Amino acid sequence: PAPGWAIDADVVVVGSGVAGLTAALRCTAAGLRTVVVTKARLDDGSTRWAQGGIAAALGEGDTPEQHLDDTLVAGAGLCDEEAVRLLVTEGPEAVRRLIATGADFDKTAEGEIALTREGGHHRRRIAHAGGDATGAEISRALVEAIRDGGVRFIEHALVLDLLTDAEGRTAGVTLHVMGEGQHDGVGAVHAPAVVLATGGMGQVFSATTNPAVSTGDGVALALRAGAEVSDLEFVQFHPTVLFLGAGAEGQQPLVSEAVRGEGAYLVDADGVRFMLGQHELAELAPRDIVAKAITRRMQEQGTEHMYLDGRHFGAEMWAERFPTILAACRLHGIDPVTEPIPVAPAAHYASGGIRTDLRGRTTVPGLYACGEVACTGVHGANRLASNSLLEGLVFAERIAEEITAAAPRVPGAAVPHPVPVTLPLPVAGARTRIQRVMTAGAGVLRSAGSLREAAEALDALHSDALAGGSDDTKSAEPGVESWETTNLLCVARVLVAAARRREETRGCHWREDHPDRDDTAWRRHLVVRLTPERT
Ligand code: SIN
Repeated sequence: PAPGWAIDADVVVVGSGVAGLTAALRCTAAGLRTVVVTKARLDDGSTRWAQGGIAAALGEGDTPEQHLDDTLVAGAGLCDEEAVRLLVTEGPEAVRRLIATGADFDKTAEGEIALTREGGHHRRRIAHAGGDATGAEISRALVEAIRDGGVRFIEHALVLDLLTDAEGRTAGVTLHVMGEGQHDGVGAVHAPAVVLATGGMGQVFSATTNPAVSTGDGVALALRAGAEVSDLEFVQFHPTVLFLGAGAEGQQPLVSEAVRGEGAYLVDADGVRFMLGQHELAELAPRDIVAKAITRRMQEQGTEHMYLDGRHFGAEMWAERFPTILAACRLHGIDPVTEPIPVAPAAHYASGGIRTDLRGRTTVPGLYACGEVACTGVHGANRLASNSLLEGLVFAERIAEEITAAAPRVPGAAVPHPVPVTLPLPVAGARTRIQRVMTAGAGVLRSAGSLREAAEALDALHSDALAGGSDDTKSAEPGVESWETTNLLCVARVLVAAARRREETRGCHWREDHPDRDDTAWRRHLVVRLTPERT
């Protein structure tokens, strides 16, 4: 659609989690005219839901080298070691700068930053805030800094597509904005630098820890713009999500790994502690191993969940250390003080995303990506717990430095990138269908058969959309719902194609029909770049 309004900036940051807001603050501090656009409210992204914390080698005896080792092991042979090295060495200072920005982390009695453990970490390395409300505190501090710093932002602005100039360089973005006064309807921000920090795509599955806004918008935009996307098959399933019933859909309450870090353990339907003997770290093995063990045990026992037992913490510790989780459990009729918590894996994190270099640059000039939407190489085949907030921080700062250092460039006349998917998409039924197809075919357990069925169902939806939708599924007007569904379908198809291609089990990609890791054939990345007619 043709933009109805336009504003100019030096940088437009899309998304308002830890990565987007950090990039925006640093760009503004460097004197760049910065505009943040975000799909809902400034604090509505994934960041505010993060519980466990942010990993950094801050504790006595810990070193970036040990953090590097744990990250590489979790990444199952596919991390970019140079990217991880940057993450772990620049991480501690980045956390201190976050504290200087106003984030208040929990302290020990001695006044040091309190650190906990999570899966895959051999040390206490996770800084946390408000007990288990780390993301909420980080979000609060950054949003406050954005408001206090007078950074321009537009809320309720769903990004549509990248604008490029005649040379194919970034020239801004188009947006669909709802109810923001002068910026209403479809408009554009013209800028020579665009930072995508739109978060993840958990909503592509039926049950996820991600909020409703995580619909893969950034990855879909990047694909339509011809940028390279990598590692989409590596979807991390969090092992311990509060089980709310077999048919539960949408965002589900997380039960942080930090609960296991503080000593809670997993038991099966018979009360047996099944992680013992499976891995030297037992319940604190890397996340993919715990999620697989839970799934396997559920299959063996014919149950829909396992249990997380933290009764021995006692009421006081639950209330002080895990107030958010305690409240969420009680809201759903479970009291962790007196009973084990029913838990099952749910989609949690996209380890892959838009491919970037170490300065956050994508393969489209002027387009940057950071946070969950990006694939910087730090996560490999499976992200280490609590490395995501850190990655958002570190690479957002790198991007701000890069944009600031680049000579100011007035964007060339924008040529809208064509939007090749013919809307309307079948809004009413399509989203739920995509989610169910993905959960059944490309969930924790995958096989050639399940993935083929998923691909066929998604292709049918795509053909239906191109044909204008069938009578019972036509969408009304192009709007947030239909744009999001377009994006979900786009990323789901690429994810399934990658998962079909990778015929091995590695990290969080689990193929029943190829149960082993195959370093000879598959120690490599699957990189996708779509040509316009294929989007
Ligand atoms: C958690 O608190 O378990 C989530 C941490 C993460 O996803 O890194």
